[in-house]
Amino acid sequence: MRTIRYGGDYNPEQWPEEVWHEDVRLMREAGVDLVSLGVFNWGIVEPAPGEYDFGGLDRIIDLLHANGVGVDLGTPTASPPAWLRRAHPEIRLVDSDGRTMSGGTRHGVCPSAPAFREACASIVERLAARYGAHPAVELWHIHNEFGWGGAECYCPVSERAFHRWLESEYGDIDRLNEAWGTAFWGLVYRSFDQIEAPGAAPPGVNPALQLDWRRFSNDEHIAGYRIQREIIARYSEVPATTNFMVPNCKEMDYFRWAREVDVVSNNHYLVAERPENHIELSMSADLTRGVAGGPWMLMEHSTSAVNWQPRNLAKRPGEMRRNSLAHLARGADGLLFFQWRASRTGAEKFHSAMVPHGGTDTRVWREVASLGRDLKQLSEAVDSEVAAEVAILWDWESWWALELEWRPSVDLRFRERVEAYYVSLWKQHVTVDFVHPEADLRGYKLVVAPSSYLLTDAGAKNLRGYVEDGGRLVVSYFSGIVDEYDVVHPGAHPGALRETLGLWIEEFHPVAEGASLALDSGAVGRIWSEHVRLEGAEVLAAFADGPDAGRPALTRNRLGRGDAWYVATALDDATGLRNLLADVLDSSGVHRPTGAPEQVEIVDRGGLRFLINHTGEYVAVPGLWGIDALDGTPYDGEVPIAAGGVAVVRITEEAPPQGT
Ligand code: GLA
Repeated sequence: MRTIRYGGDYNPEQWPEEVWHEDVRLMREAGVDLVSLGVFNWGIVEPAPGEYDFGGLDRIIDLLHANGVGVDLGTPTASPPAWLRRAHPEIRLVDSDGRTMSGGTRHGVCPSAPAFREACASIVERLAARYGAHPAVELWHIHNEFGWGGAECYCPVSERAFHRWLESEYGDIDRLNEAWGTAFWGLVYRSFDQIEAPGAAPPGVNPALQLDWRRFSNDEHIAGYRIQREIIARYSEVPATTNFMVPNCKEMDYFRWAREVDVVSNNHYLVAERPENHIELSMSADLTRGVAGGPWMLMEHSTSAVNWQPRNLAKRPGEMRRNSLAHLARGADGLLFFQWRASRTGAEKFHSAMVPHGGTDTRVWREVASLGRDLKQLSEAVDSEVAAEVAILWDWESWWALELEWRPSVDLRFRERVEAYYVSLWKQHVTVDFVHPEADLRGYKLVVAPSSYLLTDAGAKNLRGYVEDGGRLVVSYFSGIVDEYDVVHPGAHPGALRETLGLWIEEFHPVAEGASLALDSGAVGRIWSEHVRLEGAEVLAAFADGPDAGRPALTRNRLGRGDAWYVATALDDATGLRNLLADVLDSSGVHRPTGAPEQVEIVDRGGLRFLINHTGEYVAVPGLWGIDALDGTPYDGEVPIAAGGVAVVRITEEAPPQGT
């Protein structure tokens, strides 16, 4: 049976070799079976151009292998050596303000720079040739967090690469002018090389130019990944990954990235001071599963505090276990940390690790070893499906477009609305999948579009087809407004969804900062109001005050065998969204566990039900029969969970959902 992989980033080059022997002994003790090695060791294995020193890496790989620890072998290209920066100063990344990035740290390199790409190819070829067939190597870890520390480079080399990218996209300049709508302000181009990278400029840079710049920059990083991937494939049959930063990297379109990697892996760090930060963790895990289209791997999280937030709060006892098991519940097949042993030197010495500075007589170490034991009991979760009947639409391009300048309100934020709907569903114990608007939606009882400002014709057609075939769609305001060039869909808003929703919008009425609006249902809206004109939809609630008093705020349009709901203001869980979604969920037949406290996270994966108690109180969750997968406790209709505890139940029988 396959196991849940357990481990972390391992940086033995920071330690004398005698420590390595203690490391492997402790890894065995904690059940560690996979470490990411060599992620930042370029300056060590290639001390001068073309000179190599693989002695240390050879020895540690052999030692790990002899101790049953697999290797996720890094390509060290996220930290170029000092000699490369000196020999080729042109590889330094230039930011949008024209500032050139210095060294003394990792990253900060132009992804398009030929000298950088060549140097990467050369070190990767050496590594792949040397270790491609080593039995310890189970995974290739290409680069690290593509896009971190400057996703976009504005240097002249990048600008020329952008011209080539545009030329291959559009073929001729007239097509580009047409798509970008350059008649506006007469911003017409007569050749591709007239186009400037959209760096610091007066406001109003063509939004279509900005969107294509984002697409180009994402593709440049993908091109860098591919160069390495193709070299590795010549020497090794082992799968490759690169660690994503879902959902916190806005610049990388991970739906595109997921097509490139053999295994989707993600890094997630709790925002320590954020209230209910465990819900943001759930969202990250669900979105990672969405881009992966199935199980994935958690490449990094932290055992306790990180070092880079304003106040690096330590995790409380049991919190790391809850975090790790939540990732597992939501589709992770491996749980790794940054990092194995806490550094003494450098920028990350105050970051927690599996082995803290204080060693093994510490709470963190005990929790690490105990989690390792737990995971051995849960191997049956590996490769199994997470059950979800509801989908939320997510699209990086829509995120980019919505948050360009000069929108009707600065309060229109992509994640704000997605998170509002996600949080409300989470608190009602509903697990969601995140899907792209053009994905196959059949099979979902409910699809929610909280913030689909940019919607292609294909996406709009997909949503309409889903509804006509019997689906239920909930759409929030300012969706279906523009196409992929940020051009307004023809006619009245929301052009792409007008027929699906059975309405049109005469005028937007954004709400002043901090102000709110009443609905006649008792709900309270924020941010948005608008003049909705019906064209087949029925009114479920109306605005009771504000500029649209008496007009529709919540509507439903029956179309084919399904229906599409529209919400014309920002409702939050406590101010109306919960009630609205509860109605929609009930009428859609979405199954939800009943009787569990709101802050108990409940997720079904394979034959296991994970119940994670985020409260400081003991709770008892009713309606479950089964066996505890961790300690064999039988449950007869009720599962007791200690404050902050987790139960993983192998379900044998379940009470029928209420009302059936
Ligand atoms: C990122 C990096 C790691 C490390 C951690 C610290 O995720 O990939 O190398 O710097 O952050 O939290």
